[in-house]
Amino acid sequence: MSAAGFAIVSGAAIEGILLGQHHQVIDVITNAYQLHGQGHSVNPDSYFLRFAQKPDARIIALPAYLAGDVDTAGLKWISSFPGNIQHNLQRASAVLILNNFATGYPRALLEASLISAHRTAASAALGAGALTHGSRSVRKIGIIGAGVIARQTLDYLFADGWSAKEIAIHDLRAQDADRFAQWVNEKGGQAAYAVDDARASCEHAQLIVLATTAASPYLIEPGLFAHAPTVLNISLRDIDPALILAAQNVLDDVDHCLKANTSPHLAEIKTGNRAFVAGTLHDVLTQRLLPDPDRARIFSPFGLGVLDIALGNFVLKAARANGAAVEIDNFFASTARW
Ligand SMILES: NC(=O)c1ccc[n+]([C@@H]2O[C@H](COP(=O)([O-])OP(=O)(O)OC[C@H]3O[C@@H](n4cnc5c(N)ncnc54)[C@H](O)[C@@H]3O)[C@@H](O)[C@H]2O)c1
Repeated sequence: MSAAGFAIVSGAAIEGILLGQHHQVIDVITNAYQLHGQGHSVNPDSYFLRFAQKPDARIIALPAYLAGDVDTAGLKWISSFPGNIQHNLQRASAVLILNNFATGYPRALLEASLISAHRTAASAALGAGALTHGSRSVRKIGIIGAGVIARQTLDYLFADGWSAKEIAIHDLRAQDADRFAQWVNEKGGQAAYAVDDARASCEHAQLIVLATTAASPYLIEPGLFAHAPTVLNISLRDIDPALILAAQNVLDDVDHCLKANTSPHLAEIKTGNRAFVAGTLHDVLTQRLLPDPDRARIFSPFGLGVLDIALGNFVLKAARANGAAVEIDNFFASTARW
C-alpha cells in the first residue's frame, strides 16, 4: 500500500467541470442523502470559530466521512465574512481537503466555495421538488436575500424544471435586489422585479427561497405562509418560531439542524420538544413522509459535510480525468516508514 499522489484543484477548473452539470450534481447529492439516511456516514457537529472583534464573522470546520461508492473522508473549512460584500467581495470562501480512506492520507485540496454553493443549491432544488405537489411551472417565486446562494439556487431550480411567471426579490440592499432581477431577466422567460419588503416577496408565492445573512427572525407576521408555499429555509434564521410551528418541517438532519439558533432550534426551545419536526429529506425521498399540501412545507437544510465530500469526490475524479487537477509531486516527501 502506498500513499497515492496529492492534487490541487482550482476554482477555475471546478467552474468548468460543474458547468451545465446540474442533473449530475443533483444525483450526487441525492446519493449522499441516501447514504447518510441509511447510516453510511460519519458527520459530527460542525465547529464554529468566532471572533470577539468581528462578531458577525466565522470560520466553520465540517469534517465528515461518506461510505458506499464515495468512501472518502475530509474536511471543509469555510469562512463567512459578511462585511466582504461592501467591497464586492463574496462573503464565503473555502477549501476542501479529501482524505484517502485506505491510508488516511490527504489526497487533494480543492477550492470549495463553488462546491459549497453547488451542493447547497442542488440540495435546495432536491428539497423543492420533493416537497411540492403538482407542476413546477408556478405563478410566483419569492426570493429574500439576493446573494451568491440565491443566484445558484435559482439556477438549479431552473435547470430542474422550475419556471415562474414572476419572481419577486427582496434584499436589504436594494441595489442587490435590482441587480439580481436584471440577472434573471437577462435569462428571459419570467418577469423578475425587486420589492421593498419581505412580505411582498412572500405573498402569493408558491415557492420561497430564503438566503439572507439574518441572525434572528424577521419573518414574524402571522399567516405569512397561510397560502401553503414550499419554503427553502437555506439561511435558517429568518423565520419566527410561531411560523415554524404552524408548518410541516423537513430537515436534512434533525440533530444538526436543532442547534445554533436556527429557526427550528428556536421552535424547539419555545416548545421544549421536537414534535413539530415531521422528518428528514431522506424520509420524503423514500416516501416514508408525504408532503402536506394544506400547510407550508419548510425545508431547513443545516448543510451537511457529507454533501461537500460527495461533490468534492465527483469533482476530483473529473479533474483527474480531464487533466485539470494539478498533481503535486513529492507533497509527502517520504512516506516509507523505514
Ligand atoms: N444551509 C446551508 O447548507 C447553507 C449553505 C451555504 C450558505 N448558506 C447560507 O446562505 C446565506 C446566503 O449566503 P450568500 O453567500 O448568498 O450570502 P451573501 O452575503 O452573498 O448574500 C446575502 C444577502 O442577504 C441580504 N440580507 C441580509 N439580511 C437580510 C434581511 N434581513 N432581509 C433581506 N435581505 C437580507 C444581504 O444584503 C445580502 O445581499 C448565508 O446565511 C449562508 O450562511 C446556507
